[in-house]
Amino acid sequence: MNSGMKSEFINEAVNAFWEQEACGTQESIIGNLPELSPAWFRQIEAYRYATEPYIHSIAQFTRHSGSTVLEVGVGAGTDHVQWARAGARCYGVDLTQKAIDTTEAHLSLYGLQSSLHRIDAETLPFPNNFFDVVYSWGVIHHAASPERIIAEIRRVLKPGGTFLGMMYGRHSLVACKLWIKYALFEGSPWKSLTHVIAHHMESPGTKAYTCRELKALFSEFSTVQATPIMTVYDRKRLPSWFCKWIPDDFGWFIGLQATR
Ligand SMILES: C[S@@+](CC[C@H](N)C(=O)[O-])C[C@H]1O[C@@H](n2cnc3c(N)ncnc32)[C@H](O)[C@@H]1O
Repeated sequence: MNSGMKSEFINEAVNAFWEQEACGTQESIIGNLPELSPAWFRQIEAYRYATEPYIHSIAQFTRHSGSTVLEVGVGAGTDHVQWARAGARCYGVDLTQKAIDTTEAHLSLYGLQSSLHRIDAETLPFPNNFFDVVYSWGVIHHAASPERIIAEIRRVLKPGGTFLGMMYGRHSLVACKLWIKYALFEGSPWKSLTHVIAHHMESPGTKAYTCRELKALFSEFSTVQATPIMTVYDRKRLPSWFCKWIPDDFGWFIGLQATR
């Protein structure tokens, strides 16, 4: 899967992209609510779990009360708040200062705490065998080297510890719609799904996988489950009668549960 992008430039470009605004805080979601206000955070949270209800079935926040949890790629901190509310000992990392500041403000709104670090998750500043749970929703596929992040996650997890998360699915309706728009309609039908995702999905160099590829990426774990999820982003602008016949296998999100 070669997107044609040089890996040494990817994380710099990824950082520049996500520094503009924390994930899930775009104007179409928050309207003109004042940034970082209680109403702003409440709207972000309400929108997130209305559009992505399956986050709760993968994360199962409240099952991990008392656990030591690391979130890789905290974004606006909405899931991080759920971990903290559930009574986990929280640690969070993100590539951008914007995400760290937003997450800090989000936690302090509810009097919650976490140890937050602005770092590239390709090198995690934690000892071996430290966490009960590592969680990462929609992050690892943005990195120059997802393999390195996954190896780091495994290193910091305790034996028997759990990884929970989501990565993008390549054989999905979202990827097909991108290909139609940026390959077929632009007269370049030879461009691959990998190419259009790398150049037209969020930050530069975004990757997407099949379930089989993800299982291979997590092959050093003792168990791994990859579950495709049909999302609102897959169904967007498509007739509901059509979507009804498309199985979840063609969903944009692949939920991941792995045991070290
Ligand atoms: C799509 S957002 C997801 C954020 C959050 N998990 C959510 O679901 O809203 C991707 C996040 O991953 C962070 N990120 C991307 N590459 C990273 C890396 N190499 N190390 C740490 N964080 C990274 C970005 O800064 C951004 O905040």
